[in-house]
Amino acid sequence: MPHRLAVYPGTFDPCTNGHMDVIRRGAALFEQLVVACAVNISKTPLFSLEERVDMLKRVTSDLANVRVESFTGMVVDYVRGLNGKVILRGLRTFSDYENEVQMAYANRTFAPEIETVFVCASLDESFISSRLIREAAALDGDISSFVPALVAERLKAKAGALKGEVERHGKGQ
Ligand code: COA
Repeated sequence: MPHRLAVYPGTFDPCTNGHMDVIRRGAALFEQLVVACAVNISKTPLFSLEERVDMLKRVTSDLANVRVESFTGMVVDYVRGLNGKVILRGLRTFSDYENEVQMAYANRTFAPEIETVFVCASLDESFISSRLIREAAALDGDISSFVPALVAERLKAKAGALKGEVERHGKGQ
């Protein structure tokens, strides 16, 4: 049975051009792509869930078969709730591979009927991470080539909070 719907889960704190590349590839492969923004209890996001969802909705508004939602709890339960069978993730470097395969195997154990499908994220964006972008934005670095314009604006508006985050890292917190 062909799978028409895929779910691309992530923290998206914030969404980068690398994420956009994965979203575009997913939208071209599946009839419907749900970009699912996670609460993520293992990270302390800079942007609230509402802010992350709002940014994602705006930057994907030109993609007719993409919708943005948020979820709490296990990703497999959320995908099952949508009657989905596919989790989409992007692979950039070898360092992603270990984490991603670990997650894919764990999800397969929880839900054997759900398959994780990987797309190779574009090489141009392979070195970007949301953490690096948050750090550069806090230090007034030009991040405009790494994130959609709207995200760059929102990061600038968060400058104060970003500086606090970098200082906390500096103190090893
Ligand atoms: N280009 C650029 N950067 C990318 C990228 C790409 N193509 N793909 C990932 N990244 C970066 C992000 O910027 C982020 O960087 P950061 O860690 O410095 O912030 C990092 O890689 C990963 O972020 P993201 O893609 O947003 O996903 P995530 O790894 O934070 O998402 C969930 C993890 C939400 C999918 C996972 O925790 C989950 O499923 N949670 C729900 C609970 C659950 O079911 N847990 C069991 C899972 S086995």
